[in-house]
Amino acid sequence: MCGIIGYIGKKYNALNVLIKGLERLEYRGYDSAGIAFIENNNLKIIKEKGKISNLKSNIDFSVKSNLGIGHTRWATHGVANKENSHPHRVGKITIVHNGIIENYDEIKKELIKDGVSFKSETDTEVACALLNKLYSETKDINKSLNLFKQKVKGAYAMGIICDDDINTLYAIKNKSPLVVAFGEDENFIASDVPAILEFTNKYITLDDGEFVKIKSNNVICFKDDKIINKKIRTFDGTTESIEKNGYEHFMLKEIFEQPEVFKKTVSEYIENGTESLINKMPDFTKYSSIKIVACGSAMHAGYIGKSLIEEFADVPVDVEIASEFRYKKLFIDKNTLIILISQSGETADTLAAVEIAKKNNCDTLGIINVKESSIARNCDIVLYTKAGSEIAVATTKAYSAQVAMLSLIALNIANSKKLLNKNEIKEILTEIKNLPIKIQSLLDRKDEFKDIAKKIYKNNDVFFIGRNVDYSLCMEGSLKLKEISYINSQAYAAGELKHGTISLIEDGTPVISIVTNENIADKTISNIKEVKSRGANVILITTEKLNVNSDFYDEKVVVPNTHSLLQPLLTIIPLQLLSYEIAKLRDCNIDKPKNLAKSVTVE
Ligand code: G6P
Repeated sequence: MCGIIGYIGKKYNALNVLIKGLERLEYRGYDSAGIAFIENNNLKIIKEKGKISNLKSNIDFSVKSNLGIGHTRWATHGVANKENSHPHRVGKITIVHNGIIENYDEIKKELIKDGVSFKSETDTEVACALLNKLYSETKDINKSLNLFKQKVKGAYAMGIICDDDINTLYAIKNKSPLVVAFGEDENFIASDVPAILEFTNKYITLDDGEFVKIKSNNVICFKDDKIINKKIRTFDGTTESIEKNGYEHFMLKEIFEQPEVFKKTVSEYIENGTESLINKMPDFTKYSSIKIVACGSAMHAGYIGKSLIEEFADVPVDVEIASEFRYKKLFIDKNTLIILISQSGETADTLAAVEIAKKNNCDTLGIINVKESSIARNCDIVLYTKAGSEIAVATTKAYSAQVAMLSLIALNIANSKKLLNKNEIKEILTEIKNLPIKIQSLLDRKDEFKDIAKKIYKNNDVFFIGRNVDYSLCMEGSLKLKEISYINSQAYAAGELKHGTISLIEDGTPVISIVTNENIADKTISNIKEVKSRGANVILITTEKLNVNSDFYDEKVVVPNTHSLLQPLLTIIPLQLLSYEIAKLRDCNIDKPKNLAKSVTVE
């Protein structure tokens, strides 16, 4: 899985376009990166293990090239080393690939019988060898690509260069996303639109089974043997700069952007009180239930949404992990709204869930951050979060923008169903206006979280406990901590801890305990006392209103009060900053943790 880019044209040096594009695509993986390009009629390949910066330092940008393909990798088949890096080259064919070839083993065995030998462990080299074999038999790329499609099972978006035609870039797509973009006397391919936005905003998307023959002044799309016409789309956004603006890490910058992100995400819907909320959002009241489908932190945001929508709007909500949703019996129909949540809009499992929802006659609503991304393009309705570019792999501002959008949906439905009285609506709207200041007040207390981090960063196990919405926050707090600090952490529903896991609590084990709901505060506090009496080091996160004062905690973080519909947006801040400070003390690569990718584009 990975990100791919390709360029043909004379306006720019292909090497610059490829590297700039890859930098934008690095969210798809950073195990290795590589480029293939034509220089003086010869194909050259440069690839390096690790991040794009490693590759970049090995490129001589004074070399001029008009055609090239590039790749950034998140390893699926074969370890992350130079041999397994893309581009792969067999005979006259060189390719970069995003996806997984499911029947590669079977094809590889056939090719080995034919005498082909392989340098890498990858499925991609097998695909490359197959295409080379088909080409050597047919001497025709179009015919070879049609035969390739028939033989190969799985997901692939590929950029291809053939030695016999060094003035043409080929690309083929099945299941993995691919766009073809148009400049003046130059054309591009890329896994997503932002990768080429610096150069052009005109593009087409390829559908499954299509392939394309690209010259600098001409693009021809094929479906089977036939030439097809595609509608050119225009992207109306701009690229944002990806600078740290003086912050030590992107993650910290993004945590600090949250007051602004919240304002931007909600402003459109609350400018005229609840009227805009109703007018600018779909009519949710026609659905009898909601299913939220997402992965990772987006799924954790979904759990917050479930609590809020059920609590305030009286609609039953299920949350499904997208990779599970794909392969199970579903009980959904046109009365179920499927909400897909995704920062990148490119997560393969979430994208597949859109199609499944449609096949079951469900309406699909995307809560998406990246405009014109694959999931956004495929959903019936899209509500965009306005988090802007998020670079750190561990999401912070995009997660909280998703939670904000879900709070608005809960408010919208509750309001439409007249479940809230005028005073309560007024209070919520006032709190929405005040929230950025309250978030800022927590950000200003960064040093307080640093002090707590100093006391626990050497521990190898951390537990998070809470009930209801606080439990959903625990899931996200625990994921944040483990993904960037490599501490083994687990989130538990407070009442569940005693069913086994409590045996792991030892003297000094940190237990981060969240208590923000006054109705069940006593219950959670009892659970905290259970771990405290077994030696836990309790870090309590609670609200001003609850005014918890006792001897069952070691550290206390008090977050400002707000309406319970918005409370998670405040409670998450200490969790994010605590993880950040702990990872920093452990000297971890905060923005690019090992083994992870920002968006997982294979299933
Ligand atoms: C990866 C990232 C997570 C993210 C998840 C879903 O696992 O590391 O931070 O929450 O993918 O990504 P999406 O782009 O769909 O929100």
